[in-house]
This record gives sequence, structure tokens and C-alpha cells, in this order.
Amino acid sequence: MADLGLAVLISGRGSNLQALIDACADPKFPAHIVRVISNRLDAQGLDRAVKAGIATTVIDHTNYSARAAFDAALSAEIDKSQAGLVCLAGFMRLLGDDFVGSLENRLINIHPSLLPAFKGLHVHQRVIEAGVKVSGCTVHFVRPETDAGPIIGQSEVPVREDDTPDTLAARVLEAEHKCYPAAVRLIAEGRVDVDGDRVLVDGNSVLANNL
Ligand code: GRF
Repeated sequence: MADLGLAVLISGRGSNLQALIDACADPKFPAHIVRVISNRLDAQGLDRAVKAGIATTVIDHTNYSARAAFDAALSAEIDKSQAGLVCLAGFMRLLGDDFVGSLENRLINIHPSLLPAFKGLHVHQRVIEAGVKVSGCTVHFVRPETDAGPIIGQSEVPVREDDTPDTLAARVLEAEHKCYPAAVRLIAEGRVDVDGDRVLVDGNSVLANNL
């Protein structure tokens, strides 16, 4: 099977992008990054892409008065890149339903909680305030509703008594950096199907904590 081309969409630090760059550096990894797209010129992740010799594009959302026009520019760039899979990696813009619909089951996201718990922002603060003992990360197919969609994989991490949002974020981020490449690998190997709201791996319903 041909190597899967990835477009990675970022807005900032790009540590998950780096995890994907590092995974793709292994010749046995079944995917490669064809383009990194950022909505911010100052995203640190752009430097990571340039260092790895990956083509980058900045589509500055502040140049677009309507979301649909921004989404259309994004779509055009993704089409041009011929990516087979689009990975959101800390991409901080909400995407319109048409954009999301046009990439059904070709658009994935990583979120720093065990979805469907703790959707949205300020996740680690809310996890600590809620007093839950386990958190983690989720890789999922994107649907129009934010932080929803069939779950490809999750990793758990413990929440410690003395955690601050920063210490918990760091522990979850370490899990993210393993989970995202693992999910991309499964997709690139052609082992992932979507059956309604669930993901099947190798044709079977799997527990979502498989990564
Ligand atoms: C990660 O925690 C990711 O789960 C969330 O945004 C953060 C991005 O971090 N969606 P980075 O830019 O990949 O370092």
C-alpha cells in the first residue's frame, strides 16, 4: 500500500507535530507529512517543520472576515497538497460543518482528555477541580460538534494529589506524543473503519484504550 500523505494543521507549539515528524522519520512508518499548515505566522511548530524539510503554508485567519472563506482557503491548500489524511495538532480555529463534512473520516484530532469527558478548553484545570483520578488523551475522527467523533484511541494517565494544571498537562502530553503516531499508523495501515459512532480496527469493535 502506498505511503499515506498527511497534512498537519497547527496554531502553536507543535509538539504533537514533532511527534509525527519523528515517527515519519522511521522508514518503516507507513505515512509521511506532505504539508504543515498554520493559521498563525508565529507558530513555533512552523520552525519544527522547516527544520525537518517539510513544506509549510500560513493561512492567517485574521485576513478573512468570514469563517467560510477561511475554510475554503484551507480546503484549497489541503486539496493541493494531495494529503490522504488531515491531522489537527493544536489547531485553535473552529471549523465549519461544510469543511468537516468534506473531509469525513479523513480528518482527525487529538484532545488532552478522555473524551467524551472534558471537551473544550482549560481541560487540565477542570479535571483537577472535578477531582477525577484518571485523565489522558483521545485521538478521534472529527465531526461538526467540537471534540466529538468516533474514537480511534485513548491513553490514560493518573491524576496525582499534588498535580497542578501544568504538571498534569506535561504527563498527558507525553501520552499524546505516543498516541497520535500510533493512531496515524493504524489508519495508514488501512486497519481502521468507521461504523456509525464507533471505530473498528481490523473489522472488530475494539476498546478505545488500545493505544
Ligand atoms: C495538545 O495538548 C493537544 O491535545 C491540544 O492542543 C495541544 C497542542 O500542543 N489539542 P502542541 O502544539 O502539539 O504542542
